Amino acid sequence: MSSLTSQPGRPVAGIAAIPGDKSCSHRALILAAMAEGTSAITDLGESEDVLATVTALHAFGIAAVRDGEGQWRVTGGPWQTPANPIDCGNSATTARLLIGAVAGMPGVRATFTGDASLSRRPMKRVAEPLRRMGATLAGGDTLPLTVEGAVPGGIEYPNVPASAQVKSAILLAGLGGSAPVRIIEPMPSRHHSEIMLGQFGCPVTVARDEVTLGAERRLRACDIAIAADPSAAAFPLLAAAIVPGSDVTVEGMLVNPLRTGLYEALEEMGARIGLANERIVSGEIIADVTVGHGTLRGITLAASRIPAMIDEIPALAVAAAMADGETLIEGLAELRVKESDRLGAIVAGLVACGVTALADGDSLRIFGRGRCRGGHVLAQGDHRIAMAFLTLGLASEGPVTIDDGTCIATSFPGFVDTMREIGADIA
Ligand code: S3P
Repeated sequence: MSSLTSQPGRPVAGIAAIPGDKSCSHRALILAAMAEGTSAITDLGESEDVLATVTALHAFGIAAVRDGEGQWRVTGGPWQTPANPIDCGNSATTARLLIGAVAGMPGVRATFTGDASLSRRPMKRVAEPLRRMGATLAGGDTLPLTVEGAVPGGIEYPNVPASAQVKSAILLAGLGGSAPVRIIEPMPSRHHSEIMLGQFGCPVTVARDEVTLGAERRLRACDIAIAADPSAAAFPLLAAAIVPGSDVTVEGMLVNPLRTGLYEALEEMGARIGLANERIVSGEIIADVTVGHGTLRGITLAASRIPAMIDEIPALAVAAAMADGETLIEGLAELRVKESDRLGAIVAGLVACGVTALADGDSLRIFGRGRCRGGHVLAQGDHRIAMAFLTLGLASEGPVTIDDGTCIATSFPGFVDTMREIGADIA
């Protein structure tokens, strides 16, 4: 256990250093490993989760070589059956995407395991469509799970609840054959797999609510640059929004509209948000994003807006605590099955800091008073809970202490250094 404490009192300012987007990092590694030739990846986010994918690919016999910080070379090739179970650590993206990839590879067989948190998370949502496509999956509804690949049959699958991991698993499995693969999405989820498959020479059609794998299924190596992760940037930018006198910029941040829900919500609440230098890199829209403090007020967020901020609810809850008035966030059932029971962890953390908050079915109500006492919070082993509450401490009346900060390395190992560089007092 190593506790961390954030102290209020200082504004934050400057440029925050943010790792490469976690979702795009996993996908770049996996697609490069499935492609013909050698791909170069720059600005890979080297978090524990992403490194779990690298280690897994090594076990499948793939050469993934680190040339420098964030610089990787990956040579695709036939995947081998690994000698031992693949330990995905805390990373559901590693598990679900690799299970999908293996499902479409005849002759490859692998067992996937994870840490205590990942071993509680639902896997039936990927197992069911992959079985329908012809793969053999042995195990229960959670890890460990053993997958035996097969030439994939066709599928038309409703992606409900909206999950980019389930959609990606189906697309990756589909690459192993030529049968039609279509996913229906009543609510859109992040579409990085679709964009990146296009970069690797396999265009995916996204029309209305349908995602269809194209006829070309052979991936060709390409070079991918990963943009700064909006889910990691959420914390320094949240600090700028809630600490008076603050102004923070993140350069080259992924601003794909299916990832920017938090920023739209912060702007509606009264934070100052500016975008500059918009451009397209490796098929994704990126920009320099600046957030400045504003007097925040509570808002209502409907369930339809949640997929674009699914990982940012802890950050949004902190903004709501520092806002004036009630914030209502609907459609949060998926938060119960994240790295922790996030809905429960958010409410417990806010209450521990003197904020009135309650989970009402799958909605979250936070009664903001524009200030917060501070207190001791249990991170529950969840990186985003830990970072959100440490950020709250920068704007509270007293410090916020979290019981254990080691989980932060799951997604953002440089979090404390980045926050200190912009002036935050976290130790
Ligand atoms: C992710 C998808 C989301 C998100 C997770 C990363 C991805 O999960 O919460 O952190 O990279 O595809 P779901 O697909 O379960 O919504």
